[in-house]
Amino acid sequence: MQIIDGKAISLAVKERVRDEIAKDGLKIGLAVVIVGNDQASRVYVNNKKKACEFCGITSYEYALPEETTEEQLLELVDTLNGDSNVNGILVQLPLPKQINEQKIIERISPMKDVDAFHAVNVGKIMIGEYSFLPCTPAGVMELIHSTGTEISGKECVVIGRSNIVGKPMAMLLLHENGTVTICHSRTKNLAEVCRRADILVSAVGKAGFVTADMVKDGAIVIDVGMNRNAEGKLCGDVDFDGVAPKCSYITPVPGGVGPMTIAMLMENTLRAKKLQS
Ligand code: GUN
Repeated sequence: MQIIDGKAISLAVKERVRDEIAKDGLKIGLAVVIVGNDQASRVYVNNKKKACEFCGITSYEYALPEETTEEQLLELVDTLNGDSNVNGILVQLPLPKQINEQKIIERISPMKDVDAFHAVNVGKIMIGEYSFLPCTPAGVMELIHSTGTEISGKECVVIGRSNIVGKPMAMLLLHENGTVTICHSRTKNLAEVCRRADILVSAVGKAGFVTADMVKDGAIVIDVGMNRNAEGKLCGDVDFDGVAPKCSYITPVPGGVGPMTIAMLMENTLRAKKLQS
């Protein structure tokens, strides 16, 4: 069993982005918008800003109060859409309940949508014509590629069907000719379906959800979960100690998928700049 080092792989991606920006003398800006006081979002946004600094991307932070209205946020998005110093726009989710997330996402210019959440970019992902790769699924693909495993023809099972992770994840695996199954809360015989997987990706959001009896011997297990256990410690969806001995490769939490999401965001911001030039 080998642990996939997301920290090291994400560093290599960020170095590649940093070197290209430096070599071409590019001036790139990313607007990072956070609304309200969600603690996890605060940590993610700080990490995104740090990565920008590393890569030589200027980050513009907009921290808005919890009671911000939908109208006010739409207005900010309009301003950022029209600002030529801003190449990418990221609105951290979740948003407070008075704001319709989809309405905000659809207002972001598809050319600046570095999360690839806009319907235009989601549609492009469906047909395999990417402007931007969805950050977390793209990061997972890099981690799988790092093992040297050929995805073509393999049984791939994705647990979770969110718009941010599960659905685009399934598409990227499909584009590399995986045989893909998406499981969710209504799936019958979940353990049995998961046991078929050569590559198992969990994006559920529940600590300890994936147990050893759900994993085939020699499987690659990728843990997208970001949860807190009873002691408040960051952990994934996978019961790591129980599952790891059965795997060929497994990602840890922290230090697996998390840093990759941010590295892919940097890559998308560089892509945005190129798209707009
Ligand atoms: N919330 C959780 N993951 C993400 C992400 O990748 N992008 C944004 N904008 N918000 C998130």
